[in-house]
Amino acid sequence: MKKCVVLGVSGGIAVYKALEIVSLLRKKDIEVRVIMTKSATEFVTPLSFQSLSQNMVTCDMFSEPKAWEIQHISLAEKADIFLVAPATANIIGKVANGIADDMLSTTIMATKAKVIFAPAMNTNMYNNPIVQENIEKLKRLGYEFIEPASGRLACGDIGKGKLESPEIIVDKVMSEFVNKDLIGKKVLVTAGPTISPIDPVRFITNRSTGKMGYAIAKEARNRGAEVTLISGPTSLDVPKNINLVKISTNNEMKDEVNKYFGDSDIIIKSAAVADYKIEKYSTQKIKKLEGNLDLTFIRDSDILMELGNKKTKQILVGFAAESQNLKENAQNKLLKKNLDYIVANDITSNDTGFASEDNKVVILSKEGKEIKLDKMSKSEVARNLFDIIVGKR
Ligand code: CTP
Repeated sequence: MKKCVVLGVSGGIAVYKALEIVSLLRKKDIEVRVIMTKSATEFVTPLSFQSLSQNMVTCDMFSEPKAWEIQHISLAEKADIFLVAPATANIIGKVANGIADDMLSTTIMATKAKVIFAPAMNTNMYNNPIVQENIEKLKRLGYEFIEPASGRLACGDIGKGKLESPEIIVDKVMSEFVNKDLIGKKVLVTAGPTISPIDPVRFITNRSTGKMGYAIAKEARNRGAEVTLISGPTSLDVPKNINLVKISTNNEMKDEVNKYFGDSDIIIKSAAVADYKIEKYSTQKIKKLEGNLDLTFIRDSDILMELGNKKTKQILVGFAAESQNLKENAQNKLLKKNLDYIVANDITSNDTGFASEDNKVVILSKEGKEIKLDKMSKSEVARNLFDIIVGKR
C-alpha cells in the first residue's frame, strides 16, 4: 500500500518551497495530503498544492466536509509520517503548549504518526529562548526536527533560519519508510571521479558525477548503517548524517579507504578511479612550445584489487563500467579482484550511467547469481543492491 505523508504548511515566505517537497514526494510514489494554515494560504494558493498533490487541500476546520468523516481525525490516522514544512515559531509554540485551534494544530495533536518539523523563520526568532525551549520540549516528547540551514534570509538577515532544502527534507522523510536492516553495520562507500594532476593548473579526470555512490551511501544510512563516504570532487550536496571524506587523487582515496577498511562490514567501490597518473608532475605551469606535447602516464594503484587481496570478513562490492562485453568483463573483474558482488553497467547508453539520474545494471555475485535490473533511478538501484547484499532477494 502507498505510504501517506500529511504535509502541514504554516505561513512564511518559505511556503513556495513546500510545493517542491510535494512534487518530490509524489515522484517517489508517496500519497501527499496537505493541510495549510490560514496564513500559509496568503503566500501560495491551496490550488497549487492541490494540483501537485492531486488531492484536496484542507485549510479550514469548519468548512463543508468533503467526505463523511471528521477531517482532522481521518488525516491524523491516515498519516504514516506527519511533516510540518515550513514550520513557523507559531505552530511550534502551539504544539509545544497544547494549543489546538485550527486544522493543522488539531490534526498534529490527534496523530499517532511520527511528526517531523522543518522550521523556517527569522534568525533572531529561531534563536529566541522561547522558541528554543519549545523545540527542546517537543524533542523530549519524541517530535523530530530538521534543523534550518544558515544563509541569507528573506528578511535580509544572515544566520540560521532558512528552510532546509526540499531534497534533504524528502530524504529524511523517505528514510523513515526504510527497513532498518543495517543497524550496527559499518558501510564504506567510494564515489565520484579521482583526478590526476599534471601541473598546478591542469589535471585529467573522468565523467563520473558521484550520483550513484551518493545514492548508495544515503540508502545505507537510511537502513541504519554507520556510513563513511569517500568522495572525489563532485557538485552534489553534502549528505546528512554521513561521514563525508573528500579526496582528489587515487593516492588520497587509497589512504582514506585503508583507514576505514578494517573496521567496515560492507565496502562498495562505486568511484571511477583513475588508473594512471603522470610520470613526472610539473611543479611549474607547463608553457606552450612549438610542436606537440608528449606526456607519459604510469599505472597507479588498483585500490579495489588491493582490498580484495586483504579482505577478511568484509563484503566487497565493485562496479564495472563497460562499453563492450558487459557481462564477460564484469565477471572477470569479480574474480580478479576477489569481490563478493559486482555491479555492471553499460556506459554506451545515453539515458543511463554517467551523469544521468537513472541506471541500468546487472549485478553478479561470486556464487554465480545474475540479477538484471530494469532501468531505474540510482536510489532504486541502491535499494536493490542492499536487498541483494542482505539476502532479501
Ligand atoms: N577501481 C579501483 N582502483 C582503480 C580502478 C578501479 O579501486 N585504479 C575500482 C572501481 O572503483 C570499481 C572497479 O574497480 O569498483 C572497476 O573499475 P573499472 O574502471 O570498471 O575497471 P578497471 O579495473 O579499472 O578496468 P578497466 O579500466 O580496464 O575497465
